[in-house]
Amino acid sequence: MNTLIKKVRNTAELSNDPVIKEAGRILKNGGLVAFPTETVYGLGANALSLEASGKIYAAKGRPSDNPLIAHIADIDMLESLVYDISEKARLLMEAFWPGPMTLIFKKKDIVPYATTGGLNTVAIRMPSNNIARALIRQAGVPIAAPSANKSGRPSPTMAEHVKEDLYGVIDMIIDDGPTDFGLESTIIDVSEEEPVILRPGAITDSMVQNVLGKISSSFEFLEEEGEGPKAPGMKYKHYAPKAKMILLRGNQNKIISTINQLSAGEKNFALMITKELQEQYQGPGRIYIMGKASEPETIGANIFKLLRQIDADGCELVFTEGIEEKGIGIAVMNRLKKACGYNIVDV
Ligand code: TXA
Ligand code: MG
Repeated sequence: MNTLIKKVRNTAELSNDPVIKEAGRILKNGGLVAFPTETVYGLGANALSLEASGKIYAAKGRPSDNPLIAHIADIDMLESLVYDISEKARLLMEAFWPGPMTLIFKKKDIVPYATTGGLNTVAIRMPSNNIARALIRQAGVPIAAPSANKSGRPSPTMAEHVKEDLYGVIDMIIDDGPTDFGLESTIIDVSEEEPVILRPGAITDSMVQNVLGKISSSFEFLEEEGEGPKAPGMKYKHYAPKAKMILLRGNQNKIISTINQLSAGEKNFALMITKELQEQYQGPGRIYIMGKASEPETIGANIFKLLRQIDADGCELVFTEGIEEKGIGIAVMNRLKKACGYNIVDV
């Protein structure tokens, strides 16, 4: 298949943009279009079509029990897809949509099980990226879109990453440069009485608490205890580079001495670390700077790109540094822990 790659200038008014029109046509006809969102690039297809959703799983190599997120442009679209929109769900939508938050609702029959991985619930997100919303409007249907990477690879934060993974197997890639957040959306299940955070993201737990009061989360369970997650996708190996990866947590001096010990005799190793640690470290190894420890947003925006780079550079062993698990740092650490397969050393 010939994959079209098109740049679009991100402006508020895109309803007459020829690229968006063409992409909308492809989606209406059951094709696959990768498009930018404020979190990561998504691989879009008509969420109401069994065949179109099926193509997403095939292109990504994604297990069919891992449900997709349906992206909407307007609240009107939501009512046709889900039952029982609670007061708490409405408060969250008012506070964080459009934006990097996905909500889980009970699904109506119109949403095929192919899109929800066989579940009776459906994940819905209204992205803030103008191109994403213009595209959904142009298609006229909700757009199912997982991150536009091959299953198991880091999520794409640039059109080039999508090209690396999916060139030749999808119809079109819309290029809008690097995404803003670089981490996937916060997922909150609002299908039951008490909302639960299933995946941490840029909408932090304290931002959610400001709207709802106390909220529980379920993603920590599997982390160090090995219990199963509620978002089916969270159980799969994720973001992992080909290299063996070790996450080090604790005091920076101890992290350095541990790296020195563990890297003894290793020739082809890398460090993916903060600017602060890089300034203290004097040993060998290829260095990839995530950002300043005091700027976890920057780190969030960089880690997937760096993990891809580490693979491209052929590193065999990579040490990465834990950051404070607070605010968006919780989402960053969630992705780092998965990337290293929970291979964590507390120093
Ligand atoms: O930021 C994002 O959310 C990006 C952009 C493209 O919007 N999308 C994304 O999709 O990250 P994906 O497929 O990579 O991750 C979707 C996650 C998976 O962990 C999946 O299991 C979970 O959402 N999910 C989807 N539907 C669900 C449901 N009904 N119940 C529980 N978890 C669900
Ligand atoms: Mg993904």
